[in-house]
Amino acid sequence: MEKSLKNKKIVVGVTGSIAAYKSALLVRELIKAGAEVQVVMTPAATKFITTTTLESLSRHPVVVEMFEDIKQTSGAWHVQLAQWADLMIIAPCSATTLSKVANGLSDTALVCVAMALPPEKPLLIAPAMDFDMWQHPATQNNIRILKSFGYTIIPPAEGELASGLIGPGRLPDIPVLMDRIFKSLDNLENQSEINLDNNISNLNEKPLESIDESLEKDKWNTELELEMLKKKMQLQTFDKLKGKKILITAGPTIEKIDSVRFISNFSTGKMGFALANFAAEIGAEIILISGPTQLEPPTKCNFILVQSAEEMYQEVMKYFQNIDIAIFSAAVADFTPKIKFEHKMKKEEVGESVAIELVRTKDILAKAGKSKTHQFIVGFALETDNLLENAKRKLQEKNCDLIVANLANVPDSGFGGDKNTITIIDKFGKETKFMPLPKLQAAKEILKAIAERI
Ligand code: CTP
Repeated sequence: MEKSLKNKKIVVGVTGSIAAYKSALLVRELIKAGAEVQVVMTPAATKFITTTTLESLSRHPVVVEMFEDIKQTSGAWHVQLAQWADLMIIAPCSATTLSKVANGLSDTALVCVAMALPPEKPLLIAPAMDFDMWQHPATQNNIRILKSFGYTIIPPAEGELASGLIGPGRLPDIPVLMDRIFKSLDNLENQSEINLDNNISNLNEKPLESIDESLEKDKWNTELELEMLKKKMQLQTFDKLKGKKILITAGPTIEKIDSVRFISNFSTGKMGFALANFAAEIGAEIILISGPTQLEPPTKCNFILVQSAEEMYQEVMKYFQNIDIAIFSAAVADFTPKIKFEHKMKKEEVGESVAIELVRTKDILAKAGKSKTHQFIVGFALETDNLLENAKRKLQEKNCDLIVANLANVPDSGFGGDKNTITIIDKFGKETKFMPLPKLQAAKEILKAIAERI
């Protein structure tokens, strides 16, 4: 039988999170199930979803500010709204609102309503934030406080987050939220049947938890602890890169034909910039030498913009002796025009056809490999065929410690896209293959592989 929320009054709190758009789906499902819904938003939430959307779905005005004129007729409107509700759910709940509710900081209309909620009424909180914010001890401490108040925390789901990282942090799907709402209201009804002499002290007790729910929480807590342990170990691994001087080449190079034309390739620099971003984040000193791209270099890095393979070579060699690690992710042009015209080549000068003689550029990685003393060298191999075989050959010929093999011209790999499908091979032949990963995540795996080997 379809579950019903007929005659149930629900306050939905929405906070500033990328998942705020899902609150519209939640309100729609609640209304479909027969509930009456009123929405309270934080000012930050309005940056992600409009009040108009939630007003038309809930068929009630949406409150954002504590002192909005429309609400001032009744004085303590927040108390009345809290008294009106049978249940309040904050979904998504940002780290900020989580902290405010845990610490009683009622400086938004939403937190005022949450705090005015009578203790017997369930308050469900569905946190959604980036993985690192979720794992932060401050957030976890706030979660413990909120649980001790008897509030129900709906654990975030795992998956790809807005930041590109993968882990717990996503707002669970709407059916999961709906299920928790049904369960909380069912518990409440069962509880009031059990507590026939419903005295005021019982109102402070936690809502009853089903065996399934407590098993789910246990499972989730174990997963979280494992995740935190893994993270701690990873942090220790990345500690090895702290303060290390890392040189990264990125992007394409452009090889001039004349003053307005050039030869280049489709590289966007995303992989190299992701490596620079992540390495800077974990405290390495970065020299990023890149050909022209549309990307913003990380603020904490020495950024050197070059055009041609020759310029990239000169810059790399300037720094190479004094660095600890070099990662060659640039798609360096292998050929450059033998003659570069100073002026714009005119059609009448060349006639109906023109042959441009190309000569080999310097192989920067191979030259670095030859002159290496202490540096740990990472190459990339972008292939269309025989991926692993070619990558292993390049690893040896160019004297690399590690090579990152990736296929060109397939979805989720190589140039341009936001993902890459990599296989990391070390000089002892150990191969690690990864599923398609966002480039920031792929960068993390490459830096982890380096940290484990230096
Ligand atoms: N590389 C370089 N300088 C070049 C060419 C390549 O530093 N002139 C580096 C790339 O940055 C990459 C590695 O060498 O780390 C392999 O590049 P790739 O283009 O895959 O291979 P090539 O050695 O150029 O060989 P081929 O084009 O024949 O596959």
